[in-house]
Amino acid sequence: MPTHMPHKLVTLQRHMLEQQARFPFATGEFTSMLMDFVVAVKIISREINKAGLAEILGDAGEENIQGEQVMKLDQFAQDRIYKAMDHGGHLACMASEEEEHLIPIPPQFPTGRYVLMFDPLDGSSNIDANVSIGTIFAIHRRKTHSGPGTMEDALQVGNNLVCAGYVLYGPSTVLVYSTASGVAGFTLDPSIGEFCLSHEDIRMPERAKYYSANEGNTPYWGEADRKFIEHLKQPDKASGRPYSSRYIGTLVSDFHRNLLSGGVFLYPPDRKDPKKPAGKLRLLYEAAPLAYIAEQAGGAATDGKQRILDIQPKGLHDRTPLCIGPKADVALYEKFVREFGGK
Ligand code: AHG
Ligand code: MN
Ligand code: MN
Repeated sequence: MPTHMPHKLVTLQRHMLEQQARFPFATGEFTSMLMDFVVAVKIISREINKAGLAEILGDAGEENIQGEQVMKLDQFAQDRIYKAMDHGGHLACMASEEEEHLIPIPPQFPTGRYVLMFDPLDGSSNIDANVSIGTIFAIHRRKTHSGPGTMEDALQVGNNLVCAGYVLYGPSTVLVYSTASGVAGFTLDPSIGEFCLSHEDIRMPERAKYYSANEGNTPYWGEADRKFIEHLKQPDKASGRPYSSRYIGTLVSDFHRNLLSGGVFLYPPDRKDPKKPAGKLRLLYEAAPLAYIAEQAGGAATDGKQRILDIQPKGLHDRTPLCIGPKADVALYEKFVREFGGK
């Protein structure tokens, strides 16, 4: 049995209730909000599994505000999450990678204490090839006190997160989340429609044996990024072996494998536009939630100079370079950035 396999049968709901019991004044609102979200995720999972059959694979023929093609499944996932979360009374507002503006709670429904940020479908370019995709989510406590949520509620540093997680739609559907007391993973048993605890107290291995980066972009990388990856390809002093390369192109999948098996993921600043080199990944919907999970599992995440969770977002769709993985590997990347410059 893998070492992370728990001995008890624990559903996601039970786990959330047990987490909640740690806080004597908890009202249950948070758990109830997450359970709403889980319903949407189960529907998305079901739809992804029959995507080819239902002919909803493929391109919806529109572009999102990032100028990327929106696939039908992105819209489906966006819609399901929105509809599961808009009326529960738990949220002040939402923000999504697929929506340009803050998503308000419709005026006929009550607002609540929390703010939900999400990437409804991560890895969209992989959908048509039947390669695993994901959903990423992050939850903040609102900053304003009442009424509709505002940009002030949405533009918070990752340090303020109260929960983050992701769902990986792979050979099985796995949900990984943290509420600041470690990281746990649950596998969906489709026959009973329940997420059951499958990965208890996930810890990131101390050192990576894999690296994940899109090396097709090397011409657009800075010196530090190129030298860092070249370094990983040399035999390691401790193991005697170079790191192995693994790159799926779905951040959730790359991160999940690296979390369990030990890997460092790098998406450096892209210098295609030399006037504004920027990362590709979105701070609020991708980098910060996964940085939170990485840190909770004993790992780290940086943009090269700064801890991801310390970055103050200026806009809903800010992008950032991202290096995420075991602490030692992330520290090594920062050393290369200090030595060879560039963000
Ligand atoms: P999304 O599908 O939500 O737009 O995200 C795609 C992201 C991320 O999942 C992945 O790590 C990265 O884009 C891959 O980018 P490249 O194809 O440039 O390597
Ligand atoms: Mn994404
Ligand atoms: Mn997406």
